[in-house]
Amino acid sequence: MLEVQSLPFGQIPVGTLVVLVCEDRMIHTDPAIVPLIEAATGVEEFNGKKDETLTLFHPDGALVRRAIFFGLGKAATLTGESFRAGAGKAMGALIRIGLSEAAIAVPDAVGDAVDSKTVLTGLMEGAVLANHVFDRYKAEKKKKTLSRVTFFCPADQEEIARVLADDIASVCGATLVARDWVNLPANDKPPFVFAQMIADTLASRGLVVDIKDEKWLAEAGFGAMLAVSQGSTQPPRLVTVDYHPENPTQTLVLVGKGVTFDSGGIDIKPASGMETMKTDMAGAAAVAATMMALGRLRPSMRVVGVMPLVENMPSGTATRPGDVVRAYSGTTIEIGNTDAEGRLILADAMAWAIDTWHPDLVIDLATLTGACAIALGESIAGVFSNHTALSDALVASGNTTRDRCWAMPLPDDYKELLKSEIADLSNMSSGRYGGAITAALFLASFVGDTPWAHIDIAGPARAQKAGAWCGSGGTGFGVRLLCDFILGLQEKPLLA
Ligand code: BES
Ligand code: MN
Ligand code: ZN
Repeated sequence: MLEVQSLPFGQIPVGTLVVLVCEDRMIHTDPAIVPLIEAATGVEEFNGKKDETLTLFHPDGALVRRAIFFGLGKAATLTGESFRAGAGKAMGALIRIGLSEAAIAVPDAVGDAVDSKTVLTGLMEGAVLANHVFDRYKAEKKKKTLSRVTFFCPADQEEIARVLADDIASVCGATLVARDWVNLPANDKPPFVFAQMIADTLASRGLVVDIKDEKWLAEAGFGAMLAVSQGSTQPPRLVTVDYHPENPTQTLVLVGKGVTFDSGGIDIKPASGMETMKTDMAGAAAVAATMMALGRLRPSMRVVGVMPLVENMPSGTATRPGDVVRAYSGTTIEIGNTDAEGRLILADAMAWAIDTWHPDLVIDLATLTGACAIALGESIAGVFSNHTALSDALVASGNTTRDRCWAMPLPDDYKELLKSEIADLSNMSSGRYGGAITAALFLASFVGDTPWAHIDIAGPARAQKAGAWCGSGGTGFGVRLLCDFILGLQEKPLLA
């Protein structure tokens, strides 16, 4: 969908051209684009202020049918996100018009606030991420996505722009797949179905997916995971995918919470908002989609994706509050609350993955606690880690990609709150506060000394309202974060 053309652009006829404009600086130098901007800012209602927009048809002397201008505000305030959001809003407008293709002029004189690679990356990411409609269940498909967006960029950036376009199409394309999975209703993605969807999707990237069933899980001793799924008529699955290049430099395990529906179990959730619990598999969706992108990016380290998939339901066979179960690790867990199910499935999946692959690094993604969403809001994930360089790197990737993360504490003394009278551990804190932290501490007791980070995405996995480059519903949060982190790790290993 992304195409690259080098400037000067004056000789090429264009149907629709998007031009980004600052209020206090001419950020384009192309001799055909500058006069277009002068024509636009000559109109009273357009000055390039943030979020201003103007459309000119057949501007004088240009081979452009329709030029759409978007204001970015002051040049000194520009960041990568300004361009991501600018391209995203432009795509929204193009989709609303009903266009199938358009061009975007890449600014080549933005000043010192951002470098040219950040500009290109932001624009291309915004274009792909905003080019998404989830209309699978609609008879009338009102909005169509664009099939082609051409970036006009300076000749000396053409090479890098082409490489970027390929990588961004892979990573952001995978993000859209994750969103679709999250948006699917739970009746269309029970664990065995979701597992097969992941397998089919990754097979198209040459990755082999392994699916373990309930019988295998019982024999392997996944007592905590099975305690969650036993209330549902839908059997659980454990999905793994091993991206294994030759002579890998390190081994990384990614684990994603895959609760295809979280009713709460016997500790059932209130009706209001329960329908959103179809999104409780967003961690697994992000891990699967990241693996999909890695099939194209082909990093030098081995990356294993592990996705425990279950449905958490109340029934006559469901786990009761107060039951004691034995986890894969041998630890006994008292079920203080059947709605604290995510930590149970992750505990087994992580302990098993560490036993199986002896990874250098484990990262889990999970819509784990409402408490984390309350602490950090809808747009920022909480990162909990036993390894400072790891959480620092994740926070840095979050800032680059806008899958934002904030480092949270893992205080040893709070472990007190997870004590059980009769078992080794309770899955429920005895206190009222710090629920995101106690959930993370529960997980910590299943990873031993392995460098590990837990990313609680309960807030950002789902958007209540549409933003500049993401509609309401599943966001695909974590895919771009993990891809950026992994590519960064390849350049600069954390544990060297
Ligand atoms: N899936 C939920 C967490 C969640 C809440 C995600 C809101 C997204 C939005 C999780 O399984 C859960 O129910 N957590 C409980 C834990 C409690 C019972 C200790 C919570 O956060 O209330
Ligand atoms: Mn729950
Ligand atoms: Zn849950």
